[in-house]
Amino acid sequence: PHTVYMSRHGQSEYNKIGRIGGDSDITKDGQEYAKALGKYTFEVIQGNSEGLGKPVKCRLWTSSLRRTVQTARYIPRPVLHDKDGSTWKQMDGRRMHGLDEIFAGICDGMTYQEISERYPDEFVLRKENKLSYRYPRGESYLDVISRLDPLVQEIESYREPLLIVGHQGVLRLIYAYLVGRPREEAPSLSIPLNTVIKLDLLTEGVRETRTELLT
Ligand code: G3H
Repeated sequence: PHTVYMSRHGQSEYNKIGRIGGDSDITKDGQEYAKALGKYTFEVIQGNSEGLGKPVKCRLWTSSLRRTVQTARYIPRPVLHDKDGSTWKQMDGRRMHGLDEIFAGICDGMTYQEISERYPDEFVLRKENKLSYRYPRGESYLDVISRLDPLVQEIESYREPLLIVGHQGVLRLIYAYLVGRPREEAPSLSIPLNTVIKLDLLTEGVRETRTELLT
């Protein structure tokens, strides 16, 4: 597509208490963001505020996790990503979608404080090399890059605008790829909550606009 919009899910129950991973629901604030994102999609992405007559067709990708699906709930007439077998993989006995958040294995569901107390060596190793560090029985950012590869190829074949409602870790990688930042930088990029990042992919380069929908 010429334009890729990306957004993290609205605040989740786990975000609120500082836990990573899991599959929690969005909070009340998360619901507010979901509504704001529905309105933004209708007005801005689909062009209804400009009275264009026919709304722009908009592709929508979410992960398989509750927090992204709930955040996309108010998006009108989306063209959903076809969840065929190719985007799924098996991880420690569970089925993961290509856009699901980086899986923290034995640390899934913990706070960073808990990880540093229970697994101090792991905590330090990850700090030292966040890109290649793989959580025991989980993933590294490099692992996520390989599962995102077919999806990124697909992005380039679309003509319509695409909105990805995703997760911080995964969006860092897609963002770095699209704007041409080195992958070593990706794990520390800032992808804030409550914000739509719009990337216009132009021949002369990428134009980026960030819009905070909840303040
Ligand atoms: O749950 C994981 C986070 O969204 C990614 O955070 O890779 O900076 O620990 P991190």
